[in-house]
This record gives sequence, structure tokens and C-alpha cells, in this order.
Amino acid sequence: MSLDRRQAMAALSALLPLAIATQATAETPSLGSVAAAAGLLFGTAIDREILADGPYRRLVAQQARILSTENTLKFDWLRPQGPEADFTQADLLVEFAAKNALALRGHTLIWNDNPPPWLARFGSGEVATMLDRHIDETVGRYRGRMHSWDVVNEPFYPPQGMRGGWRKGPWFAALGEAYVERAFRRAAAADPSTRLVLNEAFCEQQDGLGSGVREGLLKLVSRLKDGGVPLHAVGLQGHLKPSLPYDDQAFVGFLHQLAALKVDIYITELDVDDSAMSDDISRRDQMVAKRYSDFLRAILTVPAVKLVMTWQLSDRFSWLGDLARKRNPAGRSPRPLPFDADFSEKPAVRAIKEAFLTRIK
Ligand code: G3I
Repeated sequence: MSLDRRQAMAALSALLPLAIATQATAETPSLGSVAAAAGLLFGTAIDREILADGPYRRLVAQQARILSTENTLKFDWLRPQGPEADFTQADLLVEFAAKNALALRGHTLIWNDNPPPWLARFGSGEVATMLDRHIDETVGRYRGRMHSWDVVNEPFYPPQGMRGGWRKGPWFAALGEAYVERAFRRAAAADPSTRLVLNEAFCEQQDGLGSGVREGLLKLVSRLKDGGVPLHAVGLQGHLKPSLPYDDQAFVGFLHQLAALKVDIYITELDVDDSAMSDDISRRDQMVAKRYSDFLRAILTVPAVKLVMTWQLSDRFSWLGDLARKRNPAGRSPRPLPFDADFSEKPAVRAIKEAFLTRIK
């Protein structure tokens, strides 16, 4: 439901005193409702834990208006042992979203990273046929039920040294750059009702990797759009790592370049890596909140930005926690998300709400 300016201002006046309350309560407007008042969609990635954890299920249903699957709809999760897919778990997550009247993004159909080992045994022709079959079966199964699909994830990774900065992997090896167009056209045929998204990492950072990926992505999006390929939005993941260099205004300039190619922009996997920040939890939470605030206030000046999603909602389920535990089980727990491991609101929630509200003022 989109609001006209008068309605939005009315929503703002109703929301503002409550919207920046310091503690989420039943009547405090959620992140999703504040975003909606600003004409934005807010949500989060979820996965199977949502089915088992009642309090988390309630927090997500309260705060989000749209969900993304974190892992369960990935190729290697659907087809871990061979070409036959098992949709059992994916069906449960699709049902969860539907039962809670939450929109759902499918992440991700084709990704050159994390392929299942068996795919490496396929020849190029078999890989091409598998791409078509995977998209037909997966997109076709949920036809009419998905807000959008990340059709291709992370096409670029310049450190691998490929010409044009392309990411190596089975799909690229079999089809070259053409795998992207093939996937998008196949997905559009399987479900003409869903939005098709090209999702990319690293573009936010102001360094060689960020500029290399941005360059490749702009060229690819321009070529796809010129070729009439059904590409509706570009997803920029937003995994912010403040120990790296950023220039949010330069990133805004990149967003305008993308918008000029007539695509919407989704921030699809937002979180703030606090590993280089203070050991003092209160100080760290404030620094994380400020990074969310600075980044969102900058990018929300770009009208093409339509959707903001965090990569899970609670620190308890962050991939950064999995990573940290693997690296050092005895190390400190990351605090990258708006809610802590006990689902209590952190300063980031207020910071994100205030950033959303800058869209209306
Ligand atoms: O569930 C198993 C567990 O049973 C087993 O003991 C454990 C052993 O390490 O692995 C667990 O599965 C892991 C899974 O995350 C759940 O924690 C997989 O090994 C691990 O590879 C998987 O990592 C996921 C990663 O993508 C690779 O698919 C992360 O959860 C997920 O957050 C991450 O998300 C990616 C996006 O898809 C693309 N953008 C970057 C983002 C972060 O890397």
C-alpha cells in the first residue's frame, strides 16, 4: 500500500513520538510499519530456525513486512546430493511467510559460489540443462507466491583474475557470461508475476574490490537492459565492515548510475560487522547504530531504493556469529543486527527508524 504525501505526513505525526521510542513494545510501531510510512519495504532474512523458535517467530512477524530465505532455497541446499531436488524445508518457509502475510524473496537460484560437489562432474551441456531445469522446477513450484527472486547472485569477483572481473564457477565455466541472461529469461518464463533481481556484494566499499565489482555490474546491467532482458531490480547486499574504507556519497553516486538504467534498488543483506569495534558492548552497539544510520540516511536520498532487508534480525542467528565461532569458539560474540541474541532491541533499531523517517520529512 503506497501512501500519498498527505497520508505519509499523517502517518509520520502518529508514528514519530512512538517510532523512536527506546524499547519495542506491542504498541511501538515496528521497523516494518515505520518503513511503510516512508514508502519503503523493510524485512529480514530467515531460515529454518524460525520454525522452531516461537519468540523469534513473533519478533520477525512483528518487525518485518518481507522475508528472504537465507539458505534453504539455494541450489546446494535443494540439491545437495544430486540433480533431484528436495523442497520439503523450502515449502515450510514459503508456508510460514504466507501464513503470516509476509512477502517473500527467494535467495538464490544461480550462484557460482558454494556449488554442490556433484555438479563439478557434469559437462557443459549437462550444466546448461541443469540451469534450465533448476529454474523451471524451483520458480515454477512457487509461481505467483514470490515477491522476487535473486536470479543470479554475485556474478563478479575480480580477485579471481577473470577477464571482466567475473566470478569463477560451474555456471560461468559452462556458459560464460551468457549464463546470466539465460537464467533471467528462464525465470521470467517460469513466473511472469515475480520481480527478477541481480544480487551483488562488495559494491558499498570504496576500495579496489568495490570499484571493480561496481564497474562490472554497471556494464552487465546496461547490457541486460539494452537486450530487453527481464531484470527488475539490482540487489546490493550491504554487508558493512567498518574496518574497510567507505564513501557513502560515492556509493550514492553509483546508486544513481544504476537507477538511470531503469532498475529498482534493493538493499538485500544489511548488517554491520562489529569485529573491529570496541570490546565495550554499549559503545559497540552505539557504533553499529551510527553505521546503520549514516549508511541508510545516505542511500535513502535515492528514490530508486525501494527495499531494505537485514541479514537476520537477531545476533543469535547472524552468519557472522557462525563465522566467528568457527574462527575462535572462545571469542566474543558479534553484535551486527538490530536485536541482540535475547531479542532485545538495540540502539540500531531507533537509528534505523529515524533514517527511514528522513524519507518523509
Ligand atoms: O547447518 C549446518 C550444520 O549442521 C553443520 O554442523 C555446519 C558445519 O559447519 O554447517 C551448517 O551449515 C552451514 C550454514 O551456513 C548454516 O549455518 C553451512 O556450512 C554454511 O556454508 C552456510 O553458510 C551460509 C553462506 O551464505 C553459504 O551459503 C550462511 O549461513 C549465509 O548467511 C551466507 O549468506 C550469504 C548469501 O547467501 C550471499 N551473500 C553473502 C552472504 C554471507 O556470506
